[in-house]
Amino acid sequence: MKINSICFVCLGNICRSPMCQSIMTDILKKNGMSHINVDSFGTSNENDGYGIYPATKNILYKKGVPIIPHMATQMQYSDYNDFDLIIGLDHNNVRNLLRLFKGDPDNKVKLLLSFSGEDRAVSDPWWTGDFETAYNDCLKGCTALLDYIKQNNK
Ligand code: 4NP
Repeated sequence: MKINSICFVCLGNICRSPMCQSIMTDILKKNGMSHINVDSFGTSNENDGYGIYPATKNILYKKGVPIIPHMATQMQYSDYNDFDLIIGLDHNNVRNLLRLFKGDPDNKVKLLLSFSGEDRAVSDPWWTGDFETAYNDCLKGCTALLDYIKQNNK
């Protein structure tokens, strides 16, 4: 089945997942694949309605990645059918998604860095303060994800 819609999921939906949303939108555009829908969510509702965290916007601006405006939104059970891939940024996100969806019948819940063959989380800048490392992890995962989508959608 072709991948037409993907979303990234972190805890607060103000740092890591909107960072991936902007990076992936940019990568897809540069590869003529803008028809693929890209969204992001949080597993928590703590930041619902807030915009992208300023330091996340700063690093995207510094790297020349156009910022996709986004307001934090908690992922809901009913969102499962709207996406072909639901990509957690760390293992807790994946665990919480599997709990929210009561499983993963379509095998669409993934860990971002699994696309680059790694069983590890994207560095969490909310705790490290290091947005550069988080950006590099997100870029690595999104670049590998592009290859996966290209292979899958052939
Ligand atoms: P994010 O970062 O999950 O990458 O958006 C966080 C943002 C807020 C909080 C934790 C992580 N928080 O505890 O409010």
